[in-house]
This record gives sequence, C-alpha cells and structure tokens, in this order.
Amino acid sequence: MVNGTIQEETNEQSRNLVSKFKQLELFEGFIESATEIFISFRSERKSILETKNKIEKFAERLINTLSLEDDNMFNIISSIEYGETLVSHSLKVAIISIFLASRYKMPPVKLKNLAIAALLHDIGKIKSNNPLLVPYFFDLKSDEELQKKHPEIGSGIVSDYLGLSQETSIIILRHHEQLDGSGFPAGIYDTSLSISDRIIFTANFMDNMFRKTYYAGLDNIALNLKKVFDNYPEKFDVSIVNYLFDIIYANKGSNRKFKRVTLALPAVFKLWQGTMSHKCRILDLSGGGARIRTKEILTVDDLVNLSFSLSGVMVFNDKQCHIVRDTQDERGNIYGLQFDDNTGTTQEKINTYLDRFLSKG
Ligand SMILES: [Fe+2]
Repeated sequence: MVNGTIQEETNEQSRNLVSKFKQLELFEGFIESATEIFISFRSERKSILETKNKIEKFAERLINTLSLEDDNMFNIISSIEYGETLVSHSLKVAIISIFLASRYKMPPVKLKNLAIAALLHDIGKIKSNNPLLVPYFFDLKSDEELQKKHPEIGSGIVSDYLGLSQETSIIILRHHEQLDGSGFPAGIYDTSLSISDRIIFTANFMDNMFRKTYYAGLDNIALNLKKVFDNYPEKFDVSIVNYLFDIIYANKGSNRKFKRVTLALPAVFKLWQGTMSHKCRILDLSGGGARIRTKEILTVDDLVNLSFSLSGVMVFNDKQCHIVRDTQDERGNIYGLQFDDNTGTTQEKINTYLDRFLSKG
C-alpha cells in the first residue's frame, strides 16, 4: 500500500516534469514566432498585409495551442526571461490575458481581439526606419513623451497602419487605464472600462511584477501580488484578481527557478578527452545549462568542456557538460548543453551573475 502511494507520487512528479518541459518548448516556439512578427513589423520590405496575416494567425495559434488546463505555462513565464525583452513581455501579457479571458467565456472574436491587443500593446514604443511608420512618431520631443503617448500611437498604428479591428485598437489605447481613474492617457474609469481593458491592465501589471522580482517563481510573486492587490484594491477588478489567484494556486511545485538570459557570448569548447578548442557562441545561459551555436557537428549525449567568461570577471574554464538537445536553424547547428556539476557551484556563480545582469535590465 505504502509502495503504491510512493509509486503514484513518482508518476505524478514525472508527469509534471514532462508537462513543464512541453510547456517550455511551447513557450520557446511562441517566442520565435513573436520575434518574427516584430521583425516583420519593423521591416519596410515586408508588406503590411503579410504582417497583419502573421499577427492574426499567431493569435489564433496561441488561443488554440495554450492548454488552459495545464498551469505549468504560468510557472515557466514567471521564472524565465527569454528573447528580446519587448517581445518576451508582449508574449507573456498575451498568454496571461488568454488564460484570464478563458474564465469569462468570451466570444471567439473578442478573445482574438484581446490576444492581438495584448501582443501589440506596446507597439507604440517601437520607433523604426520604416518610412510608413515614421509619421506616427513625428512630433515626439523626448522619451518621456513617447512613454506617455505610446498607447495612443500604438492604437493608431494598429487600426490605421495594420488595419486591425477597432476593438483591438481601443484595448491598446486603454492598457494603462486603471479602475480608479488614475491611469493614462485619458484617466477613464469604472464601467467605461471593458473586461478586456481590465484584463490587459492586470496582465501587463503581472508581467512587470515578474521582471521586478527577477523571475523569482510563482510562490514569491504571488506574495508580492497579494500585497499590491490588498493595498490598492480600487485599481483592479476583483473577479480578475480572484481568477488570477485561482490559476497561481492551482500550480504545484512552483519552486523551480529558471533564470535564463539571451546572450551572444563568444566561447570555446573541447570534446571530452580532446585537446583542440572549437569556437562557439553561447546564445542563452542559465544556472543549469546553455545553448550554443557552432559549426562543429555534435550529437546528443556527447560530453564537452566549455570555457567562457561573464563580463570578463567570472571565468569558467573547461566546465564539463553534455549535449541534451540538437536543433537547427537557417544559420546552422544549435545545441542545448547541460552542466554536469553536481556541487551547485557553477549554478551559484551563474545565478549571481544573472541576478546582476537582470537587475541592470
Ligand atoms: Fe505599455
């Protein structure tokens, strides 16, 4: 009987682990697609229609692929920074918004409008050389003014330039409006704000909290959120706050910390027992491992010794790792490495660096 219970717990743990990795892979795929959308938006060579189609298709994919029963996605997004900050933030606000909106059983069109708005809510901050976009930023005198006006600029770009729906444009215009009327740009309040306006404000607030608390994991973030919601209840919709905590507390085992940062760090590696150094570039790094790009051909389970330095201060020589993943993009081979250090020293050093790195960002 006791053995049976242990077995059940082990099965539960391994199911949870598999689900976490699936959600992490899913999130990585989402980041790649979202990055493409932002590149396409900035580019003067991409047609507007092509960008618009990409955005709509991606919003549909997000809605259809996110498993709303599997709350591990919340665990992932509260614990890692991945990709360009604006892209990562926009995607996370979209994911949180979709999770929250699902509790309100919105009609599909409204849900899609909200998902697109969340994905593009800060698009009014992206200045680009695309001549068709330059006029939107024409009379700005300072960065503060850009910060103040980005909801209006973004709202205009979404409806006039991209030709997306009026509802999407209005949600973007209002993503900083607060229920007590203290938000901007218009200071509108209460019943004038739709449930979508309230959701996007809360989702945006939540992801900013993730960043401010250095991706401390859901347990820590939940405590901070609770303090804010208790101290400023008039700013948030109470039903949204309740749904948010339902989702957070539905998570089990939310203690794992991923603090991954995207880098472009030159490094070298040697094959196990080899003497020749091969060049590579570290694409991202966490306490548990790294992803590297190299011209060399490696295979899963290969052992390698990786050498690199962080800001020229923390030097890592011949850290033993093994290849856990092998992927490709149009520029060549990318390998996922896991550090083999069991003492935790490597992890601790990298985490210290990442804490500093993230606190600067
Ligand atoms: Fe914003």
